[in-house]
Amino acid sequence: MTMKTLDGVDVKGKRVLVRVDFNVPLAHGRVMDSTRIVESLPTIRELRQNGAKIILLSHAGRPNGKRDVSLSLRPVMDELSFLLREGIYFADDCIGETPSSLVNSLKPGEIALLENLRFYNEEETNDPLFAEKLASLGDIYVNDVFSVSHRAHASVVGITKYLPSYAGRLLEKELHMLESTLTRPSHPFMAIVGGAKVSTKISLLKSLAHRVDTLVIGGAMANTFLYALGHNVGRSLFEETMVKQAIHILQELIRRDCRMILPKDCVVAKAPEPGAKSALVSVSEVPEDQMILDVGVATLEDIIEAIDQSKTVVWNGALGVSEYPPFDYGTKLVARHLAKKTKAGSITSVAGGGDTVGALNQAGCLKDFTYVSMAGGAFLEWLQGYPLPGVEALRESGEG
Ligand code: 3PG
Repeated sequence: MTMKTLDGVDVKGKRVLVRVDFNVPLAHGRVMDSTRIVESLPTIRELRQNGAKIILLSHAGRPNGKRDVSLSLRPVMDELSFLLREGIYFADDCIGETPSSLVNSLKPGEIALLENLRFYNEEETNDPLFAEKLASLGDIYVNDVFSVSHRAHASVVGITKYLPSYAGRLLEKELHMLESTLTRPSHPFMAIVGGAKVSTKISLLKSLAHRVDTLVIGGAMANTFLYALGHNVGRSLFEETMVKQAIHILQELIRRDCRMILPKDCVVAKAPEPGAKSALVSVSEVPEDQMILDVGVATLEDIIEAIDQSKTVVWNGALGVSEYPPFDYGTKLVARHLAKKTKAGSITSVAGGGDTVGALNQAGCLKDFTYVSMAGGAFLEWLQGYPLPGVEALRESGEG
């Protein structure tokens, strides 16, 4: 199935609705991290150069269909103006008279940002009337949100029924990079999965257990596996209800003769606090009153050695409490080693997911990976081979 791109599309003087992902961290009326806004600039700049009237659509947070001033996109307008070195317009609604009159006053090359789509429940329910109202603001629709394409929402799916629809440059880039690195990865293929809960990543772990040569499990989710193997995990977070599933995954890895790296030592402390007094212990010696908060040095040696033997490494989720020392050590060490091996041309490295991107940023090696996807949930769904409704909708509309 084909997906039309912006190549050769005449946008001059046309109203082009671009769905972007400006779901960025906001605090006190300011954008705290503009990475996602920066990623959307190539499409915006190209459309502006080609004389389009650009209307940007986005969500921010999960306001559950209610107006919430703390989730207004107005601060994004300031950040985008700053990045583009140009004033842009803002409409404090995304449907109705306000955006309609603003859009009709736009001149070619001008940009308008509309207010948070999720102030309306109809966005998330993919309401056809809401999608039609959005569509009435444009002549052409561009999906530039790989990171929201796993959501069958009105501005991602429904709208494609009403307008000629195209993939934006960021969507194209994300799909191309993920397909070229991970669809047929060079082996040995290694996955590193961290984060807090097995329950949120169980289907990812199951799917990776069928494909990878080495699987590393870190973060608090490793505690559930350690518990399943009979270790005492003290006061660490773990999910009793996921123990059976963890055992199934371990059995599948053994059946496939896949290498499994679980922590064999760990850094423990009484509580996850910055600078907390910590100790390095074997996983069979976790004190009753302590929590596992990072992987230990012997485990890190195993991970580094496995990276050195791999050709492709995919990573999602931190290995410890990566936000502050001393529990950020393992995540940073692995991030820097992956960056070094990638720069040396020995491995292809791909990472994705909000906390992973943040951890790579903190380790100062975001730019050194082969590819870092800005997407969270969409990256995980793509990795498991699930169809993404937003991408499917573009393909279907490309057929028409
Ligand atoms: C993300 O941050 O992954 C995207 O913006 C999607 O947000 P959502 O999970 O609230 O749909």
